[in-house]
Amino acid sequence: MFPIDRPRRLRRTAALRRLVAEATLDPGDLIAPLFVAEGLDAPRAISSLPGQVQHTLDSLRTEVAELARRGVGGVILFGVPAQKDAVGSGAYDPDGIVQVALRALRDDHGDDVVVMADLCLDEYTDHGHCGVLATDGSVDNDATLPLYARAAVAQARAGAAVVAPSGMMDGQVGAIRSGLDEAGFPDTVIMSYSTKYASGLYGPFREAVDVEIAGGGDRRGYQQDYRNRREGTREARLDVAEGADIVMVKPAMTYLDVLADLRREVDVPLAAYHVSGEYAMVKAAAERGWIDGPAVALEQITAVRRAGADLVLTYFARELAEVLGS
Ligand code: PBG
Repeated sequence: MFPIDRPRRLRRTAALRRLVAEATLDPGDLIAPLFVAEGLDAPRAISSLPGQVQHTLDSLRTEVAELARRGVGGVILFGVPAQKDAVGSGAYDPDGIVQVALRALRDDHGDDVVVMADLCLDEYTDHGHCGVLATDGSVDNDATLPLYARAAVAQARAGAAVVAPSGMMDGQVGAIRSGLDEAGFPDTVIMSYSTKYASGLYGPFREAVDVEIAGGGDRRGYQQDYRNRREGTREARLDVAEGADIVMVKPAMTYLDVLADLRREVDVPLAAYHVSGEYAMVKAAAERGWIDGPAVALEQITAVRRAGADLVLTYFARELAEVLGS
């Protein structure tokens, strides 16, 4: 009989398994995406994201306090404005809903909670695109950049510690870095959605922020093609060169190869966004009793860490913090 190699030795007890576990998950690694809507009287449920709501300013403050108490690492805000227009002015209006919310959270927590603001125009434009449109209806990359810089300054001024550009315009990180530095915000962190794919998994998010892309359009002209892996690294390298402090892969589960590439190729902290559709799939199957929802959530988010993410944006942040904290 040949000698059997026995990797099972290290799996015999829970204590041994914990000792040799490679990937860890701590509430401090998680960022909770939160929606805040202008002019709401009461929080509004989002049917395709069970357990998530459009917050009022008050319910947002309560939720952030609760997340902080549970040790969640940070929050990222998305705004749902009462009015939309062609140039997305709610994104950079000092009285826009996210800027109002940022000031409230800064009053509540100061620097004790890492408060981030998603930086994009799509929630604020009446056509639903992430940038302004040229006369031919295409998204005008270079005309959009100054508006992103303006939004970044408005967010920083309102108290955002981190701004997170998600619009996939070329040169956006450089434009935002210059804008922030010139306005006297050299310490505002840029977490870039550097490597963001045009994905079917953003569906529930678009319900959450009331976004419909005009004319049944899509974002394939600016977000990445899911057939491409090398391009993910290229996008991240460009953003680091332009001044990104943190880069990101989005979505998460279908792009773990890309995440592993970035972990090897760049040395800034790496985030991954486990997006609305990923959350919704787990919730829907769990509701039918087909999978154990909390167990699958823990498995998925831990897998994202194992693939190389330092931080994970996830709608499961609060639930996982509860599980991990007990
Ligand atoms: C753009 C943005 C989107 C998401 C985050 N930022 C939508 C999009 O690119 O269409 C999606 C997040 C999710 O699905 O959870 N502002």
